[in-house]
Amino acid sequence: MAAAVEIDNVSKTFKLYHERGTSLKERLVKARQSRYDELKALQGISFDVEEGETIGILGRNGSGKSTLLKCICGVLQPTSGEIRVRGKLAGLLELGAGFQPELSGRDNIYLNGSMLGLTRKEIDAVFDDIVGFAELESFIDNQVKFYSSGMYVRLGFAVAVNVDPDVLVIDEVLAVGDEKFQRKCIARIKQFQEMGRTIIFVSHSADQVRTICDRAVVLQTGEMIGMGTPGSAVRLFRERLLESDGAPPAEDTAPSVDQTQKEEKFQLRVREVFTSVSELEDPVLESGDPFSVTAVFRVKEKIDSMVFVLEIHGAKGELLLRTDTDQLGLSTEAPMGEGRITFDFPSWPLNDGRYDISIGAQNRLGDVTFDWRENVASLEVIYHGRAAGLLNLPLSASLTAGGPIVRKVL
Ligand SMILES: Nc1ncnc2c1ncn2[C@@H]1O[C@H](COP(=O)(O)OP(=O)(O)O)[C@@H](O)[C@H]1O
Ligand SMILES: [Mg+2]
Repeated sequence: MAAAVEIDNVSKTFKLYHERGTSLKERLVKARQSRYDELKALQGISFDVEEGETIGILGRNGSGKSTLLKCICGVLQPTSGEIRVRGKLAGLLELGAGFQPELSGRDNIYLNGSMLGLTRKEIDAVFDDIVGFAELESFIDNQVKFYSSGMYVRLGFAVAVNVDPDVLVIDEVLAVGDEKFQRKCIARIKQFQEMGRTIIFVSHSADQVRTICDRAVVLQTGEMIGMGTPGSAVRLFRERLLESDGAPPAEDTAPSVDQTQKEEKFQLRVREVFTSVSELEDPVLESGDPFSVTAVFRVKEKIDSMVFVLEIHGAKGELLLRTDTDQLGLSTEAPMGEGRITFDFPSWPLNDGRYDISIGAQNRLGDVTFDWRENVASLEVIYHGRAAGLLNLPLSASLTAGGPIVRKVL
């Protein structure tokens, strides 16, 4: 397979100029300082994106994701290094990038299309598809400066996917649209994958990266700290996220003196996670049997809004369940000191396979993570029944002679 995009030792440095001093004294002092600071937004990034591959890019705010995408799209010039793209590339960059606010939606479609190398005729041919996909029929002749952020994203995505690119680049913008439009975009992205197109995809959603991407890259303050399967990249990303928030990743072993000291600094830490089968010599669960998972935690500082989150992923990394203690009717106030939280399944509902369990503590909105233990436990399940498929639901059937058919599901 040939590489569709080669990113070769790319660095991007922004110069942040100081304000000039106004008084003579200020100027004299500042004359000795440099006139600008350098911000290394990207440092020595190298990776290839194979043709037909979907690559995810994960990283916290400011880690350089958008800068990298802009370099790939040619909107920004790298300070050093090289990027080679084979085929036609269309990008959906940060909100509003690539649109002229004074022009109408209609004119912007023609402008964008021509920038992507389409003739007027070619744009005419896809114009209705673009407007239809964006659901902007009644607004297409309004100036885009009056568009909402959701409308911007819809138009941007509709143009990008309808100009038939070989490489599609999407920044974190999908989160802006409503859920219905997001689903439509994901469906279109999947169509692109089936057509063998190449996609580079920045998302804030670990689950989107898991379900859509073949591989993922993790950026941290401009450096690429890892590249691998979506599962391993998400894990690395979440661990680093915690480290830079001041909480070290939790350890399975007893904390060393050093870690005990670090522990002073954070509000809540998950210290240990075990399941109802983890102590068994042969830790295999029979499908349909009761199962529980328990996390031992320690709360150092009062937290007002806090939920414990349980996630279960399947062997391919797909999310099977995410729930939290708020949804399960527990208080969102964390008890101080040591505690344990147990999630109980009266009957494990999934058949043969391996399942990964993650547990964390977040605020109710899910935008603050106090601690997260990704894939901290796994579960091997065997199923002795005869039904095929993944689910083992409590189910029975009844058969009655004559009369209307009675269906009974327990
Ligand atoms: N045009 C610019 N001028 C100066 N600094 C910039 C510019 N664009 C981005 N940066 C800085 O570069 C870093 C990376 O930004 P960005 O690529 O937008 O990160 P991300 O998309 O991961 O949130 C940030 O520190 C940001 O402030
Ligand atoms: Mg960004």
